[in-house]
Amino acid sequence: MSEEFDHLHPETVALRAGTLRTEHGEHSDALYLTSSFVVEDAEDAALKFSGQAPGYTYSRFGNPTVTAFEERLAALDGAERAHGTASGMAAILALCMSHLKAGDHILASNGLFGATIQLFNNYMVKFGVEVSYVSPTNPQAWREAVRPNTKLFFTETPSNPLTDIADLTQLAEIAHEHGALLVVDNSFCTPILQRPLEFGADLVVYSATKYLDGQGRVLGGAVTGSRALIEPIYFFLRTAGPSLSPFNAWVLLKGLETLPLRMRAHSESALKLAEWLMEQPAIERVYYPWLPSHPQYELAQRQQSAGGGVVSFEVKGGREAAWKVVNNVRLISRTSNLGDVRSTITHPATTTHGRLTPEARAAAGIKEGLIRVAVGLEHIDDLKADLLRGLE
Ligand SMILES: Cc1ncc(COP(=O)(O)O)c(C=O)c1O
Repeated sequence: MSEEFDHLHPETVALRAGTLRTEHGEHSDALYLTSSFVVEDAEDAALKFSGQAPGYTYSRFGNPTVTAFEERLAALDGAERAHGTASGMAAILALCMSHLKAGDHILASNGLFGATIQLFNNYMVKFGVEVSYVSPTNPQAWREAVRPNTKLFFTETPSNPLTDIADLTQLAEIAHEHGALLVVDNSFCTPILQRPLEFGADLVVYSATKYLDGQGRVLGGAVTGSRALIEPIYFFLRTAGPSLSPFNAWVLLKGLETLPLRMRAHSESALKLAEWLMEQPAIERVYYPWLPSHPQYELAQRQQSAGGGVVSFEVKGGREAAWKVVNNVRLISRTSNLGDVRSTITHPATTTHGRLTPEARAAAGIKEGLIRVAVGLEHIDDLKADLLRGLE
């Protein structure tokens, strides 16, 4: 699918790949809100159910609106194939269930999204899969931590909330030397800012709930990669059930149409905010990959086309000072979700990372004064004024 769109710009691909039109010629994409599909006769049913003939039978197996979303996302990501899932976590579960077995080992970066860590530690381990964690910024640590049974490297980049950048080319090389797959959770960057497959990643997962929707409306997820690697994931999903609903796929199709514009706007505002925060006397440190002071600034410039929407910063005065900022915003939403057109603010030490022991939190670099803002599309001056209320 993607070859057809390879020569086009992302703005065009986001609007023109995977368009779905019935005989009525509707200009917006068609929504097939149906759980099953009627067949012509018994022979037609037999051929479709056995996969010998194309066509839809049941929406857990496939649905035209879901296919349209998958084709559009695959084209944006430069992937042979994409598969939609009920949520981002369903995408990660599906890839683990289809590519791992008891006795295999996952090597993952520390500081992953909390539910991903819980999925690995509480469930994969229960089924005999080993898991260990290393720093996303230290490829040598990955090389040293590989075991003979390592089957999957798993990383996010930039990391949440400290925006550490993993070197995907190096991680892919190390993974492939040892016969493992590199999986990248690209929810923060989306295909507009970073296409991990181009750096050697084998599979890319998305929480479509974040920027792909972009307006905080639906849950969804996806995996992209080669046809051969996506096929077993598809068979797990059609068997186990966490498939993407046609309605959510339709909303996500609309979300993708404005994704290039939104990611550019999020990134422009986030950079302005990060630069402004650097000048504020109440701030100890700012974490944003597009700041020259970021430890992996050059790597970020090679891998990403902009810094993305997430800015984290430490205020002087620890928890009390951080809570003052959080409690004084009137515009920015106090919620831990991100990727929305509305800006959000969170205090990681007592929310997303609140269940960690103080030692584990310190090891993860999550200080009491740390605040994460996912910069939305409000005017930047209004966002600055909102934060200033708690910083002064
Ligand atoms: C980086 C990342 N990956 C995966 C997920 C899980 O996605 P979902 O909530 O759609 O299941 C999230 C959700 O916050 C996330 O931030």
